[in-house]
Amino acid sequence: MTLSTKVQWITEELDSLKQAGLYTNIRTLSSPQGAWLIVDGQKVLNFCSNNYLGLANHPRLVEAAKVAIDEYGIGPGAVRPIAGTMELHLELERRLAAFKGVEAAISFQSGFSANLGTIPALVGSDDVIYSDELNHASIIDGVRLCKARRLIYKHADMKELEDRLKSSRDARNRLIVTDGVFSMEGDLTPLPAIVELARKYNAVTLVDDSHGTGVMGEGGRGVAEHFGLLGQIDVITGTLGKALGGAAGGFVASSAQVIEVLRQSSRPQIFSNALPATIAGSALKAVEVLEADPSLVAKLHDNTDYLRRGLRARGFNPLDAPSAIIPILVGETAFAIRMSERLLDEGVFVTGFGYPVVPEGTARLRVQASAALEREDMDRALEAFVRVGGEVGLL
Ligand SMILES: Cc1ncc(COP(=O)(O)O)c(C=O)c1O
Repeated sequence: MTLSTKVQWITEELDSLKQAGLYTNIRTLSSPQGAWLIVDGQKVLNFCSNNYLGLANHPRLVEAAKVAIDEYGIGPGAVRPIAGTMELHLELERRLAAFKGVEAAISFQSGFSANLGTIPALVGSDDVIYSDELNHASIIDGVRLCKARRLIYKHADMKELEDRLKSSRDARNRLIVTDGVFSMEGDLTPLPAIVELARKYNAVTLVDDSHGTGVMGEGGRGVAEHFGLLGQIDVITGTLGKALGGAAGGFVASSAQVIEVLRQSSRPQIFSNALPATIAGSALKAVEVLEADPSLVAKLHDNTDYLRRGLRARGFNPLDAPSAIIPILVGETAFAIRMSERLLDEGVFVTGFGYPVVPEGTARLRVQASAALEREDMDRALEAFVRVGGEVGLL
């Protein structure tokens, strides 16, 4: 019996995705990240990468990656506690901690592994985790790996979170986990209320600031800066693969004690190779560039505002939120995919998301702003939105 006969269900699953118009056509790039990309051989405007500050191909970051490869070679060749810790990791971690206004930080291979490796390290079987229902998949999976009791609360519903905290007073330790910026909605967690509830009920707060780092706050220090709460989130997780250069890698920023426990016992730290030197070098440079020149963040904020206002003025109704994620709800998944394909024909690269990434009936186009974009790029894209929106009957 061949493998394809043994797993016939996979063929059927793929066929049914195609028939339902839910199959994702994965595009191939042959250019660096920037305002423009070459996608499947076509030059298009980029409205769907996480290169929020336009640093992914910045000459100083590229140079820093080259210097790191010259000094340290291709990779660590080991996990952190064996022979994988380089001076460059420690420098990056000191810099990230200072940037986030906390005592210490530790790098991970990705933002995904930062969540997977941190959440289970902070709670045990006598503890309770409170998790927003719209949290990112890496938080959901991190929570699933825990032995603690899991209580999910409705998205950003502080009344329900408080009810859950009250109903579990017997817990030994409590951990509230939430995205800082929700990746499909673009909205922010109600951080001031979370911090207050955490104080009242003696809970630890963990905020995934992947879409907030480099984006929120005047200095791009994240959602804590946006809300005037720098240094008041207990544990921040995040990625180095979005605003901070867009390569890969993640981090956790917290107290020296929490970071030490992750260093000693977080599974991705002790069972998976350390972050490659090139990425440590470019991410370190990204923080330096950002700290020296916060005007990049101001440009991102301006561009986000311009796109949001431009879409509204042309009859679209994007969800209202202060982040650089601008979702336009269109209804059915097949419709979102068709629209993104038509936009690509028009030279505008925007991703359509549908079920199961977002609830059924709430498929959307997710427009992402970037400081790499210029006004004429955005005007050109807005006109394409009008053409396609009119053609498919959305306007
Ligand atoms: C909120 C959030 N957390 C974590 C991640 C994972 O980050 P990485 O791509 O570095 O694994 C992502 C990426 O999509 C994200 O949006």
